[in-house]
Amino acid sequence: MARRSHRLFARWYPKAAASIEDRGLGEQRARLLAGLDGRVLEVGCGHGANFTHYPEAVTDLVAVEPEESMRDLAVARAEELGRKAVVLDGQAEQLSFENDSFDAVVATLVLCSVEDQGRALAEIHRVLKPGGRLVLLEHVGSANRNIRALEYLFDVALWSHVFGGCHTSRDTGANLAAAGFDTAGLTPEKLPFLPYPLKVSPHLAGEARKPA
Ligand SMILES: C[S@@+](CC[C@H](N)C(=O)[O-])C[C@H]1O[C@@H](n2cnc3c(N)ncnc32)[C@H](O)[C@@H]1O
Repeated sequence: MARRSHRLFARWYPKAAASIEDRGLGEQRARLLAGLDGRVLEVGCGHGANFTHYPEAVTDLVAVEPEESMRDLAVARAEELGRKAVVLDGQAEQLSFENDSFDAVVATLVLCSVEDQGRALAEIHRVLKPGGRLVLLEHVGSANRNIRALEYLFDVALWSHVFGGCHTSRDTGANLAAAGFDTAGLTPEKLPFLPYPLKVSPHLAGEARKPA
C-alpha cells in the first residue's frame, strides 16, 4: 500500500518529543507497558521512545516504522539500551506477519497518523492471538460533534499537513469497537504536558482486547 512520506516531520519530531518525555510522557509509557510479556509488535515505533520501558518479560520485540530516519534512530536506541529488537520497514495497514502471531501489539500516538485507521485496526486484530491485547495511548476527537467537526476542518486545512499526517478528530474508540476489540480496558485521559492542541484533546489509554 502506497503511503505519503513525511520526511520533514520525521526529522524534527524526535528532538521535539524529547522534552515531553521528562514532563510526563515517559511515566505514562512506563505505566502502559509494564505488564507486557511474550512476543510483542510495536506499530509506528518512531525513534524508539518506548523501547526503554519494555519489561524483561517481553522476550521477542518486533517493531514496524515506515519512515527511514525514524527507523535508523529506533535501531540505534535498541542498541544503546542493549535490547534485542527487530525494527522493520512497514506500515500498520499491511502487516507482514501471520495471523494470531503476537501476544500484544503496542500503538502510542500512531493511530492518529495512519492513513487508513480501519484497515490498520483490522490488521492489528488479525496478527494478535485470541485474547491478545492492543496496548495504546492515543489522542482522539472530541465527544462533542460540533467540536469534532471543527477538529476535522483543522486537520484537513493545516494540522495533518504539518504534523506528519496526524489527525485530531478521529473517533478511535468507535473504530476499535467496529474492528472487533473489547474496549472495556481503555480509560479516558488528559495529557496536559503535550503541546497545544493535543493538551486539550481527550486521550484513550490502556488495552483493547481481541476476544479469546
Ligand atoms: C507521533 S509519531 C509517534 C512515534 C512513537 N510511536 C511514539 O510514541 O513516540 C507517529 C509515528 O507513526 C508513524 N506512522 C505514520 N503512518 C504510519 C503507518 N501507516 N503505519 C505505521 N506507522 C505509521 C510515523 O512515521 C511516526 O513514527
